Amino acid sequence: MIELQNVTLAYNGKVVLDNVSFKAGFHEKIAVLGGSGVGKTTLLRLILGLTRPDSGKIYVNGQDITVMKEGELRDIRMNFSIVFQEGALFDSMNVRENTAFCLREYTEYSEDEIEKRVRELLKLLGIEDAINLMPEELSGGMKRRVAIARSLAGCQPKMMLYDEATTGLDPLTADNICNLINDLSRGEPSERVGFMIVTHKVTDAIKVAERYLYVKDGKIAFDGNLDQLVKTRDQQLRIFTDELHTAERCL
Ligand SMILES: Nc1ncnc2c1ncn2[C@@H]1O[C@H](COP(=O)(O)OP(=O)(O)O)[C@@H](O)[C@H]1O
Ligand SMILES: [Mg+2]
Repeated sequence: MIELQNVTLAYNGKVVLDNVSFKAGFHEKIAVLGGSGVGKTTLLRLILGLTRPDSGKIYVNGQDITVMKEGELRDIRMNFSIVFQEGALFDSMNVRENTAFCLREYTEYSEDEIEKRVRELLKLLGIEDAINLMPEELSGGMKRRVAIARSLAGCQPKMMLYDEATTGLDPLTADNICNLINDLSRGEPSERVGFMIVTHKVTDAIKVAERYLYVKDGKIAFDGNLDQLVKTRDQQLRIFTDELHTAERCL
């Protein structure tokens, strides 16, 4: 369980998040929508303790992470698998080495165990054949898959955090990544790994999410399901959801 209580954060006097509160279970499938620079990435960073709020509390599993030291935060972060917006792979390392990076850095696994785990993950993500390829030899979608494999390698996450997982990909590849996101969060709520996906692409969000948050002017201006989302009266959010109506009309 994640809980933000009255979280406020400003950068250089500019308020990014203004008294934001919300609760989410690890099993939930959440899309965080919003324009550029509204604080979506910041929200993920706050949950991981990578950024601290100016005021307010953030609880993960009932523990207040805003008062934690770096060492304690490491345990908190193990609850999550994070695919950052940049999704950057190390250019000088092949897919095997990129995927194994966190295992080498943060675990005591033997080389044999690392190889086994890396192969398992690449198989899970459907890119086993690319194990010896360098990043420059990969398509955008494959790079994103390797980034997801790498984020899964170090831990058994309770929740996945995807920052703009489909941004910059062509529609077919984006669709592929949406399928993968769904595959990784299969099952009944009680047993599945949930996710928060940050995106400005509503058309991708609706392929995966069950709950939608819309960030605007430092607030969570909308929090609801798809039915409520398409009926929203928020004019700015409608600019996002209009994309859905347009897609529908084209069918
Ligand atoms: N480390 C930082 N220092 C100063 N400003 C920052 C920093 N991180 C983010 N910001 C600012 O905070 C706002 C929200 O950023 P971000 O969360 O990255 O937005 P989003 O992911 O929604 O595009 C932006 O105006 C951004 O410039
Ligand atoms: Mg961002």
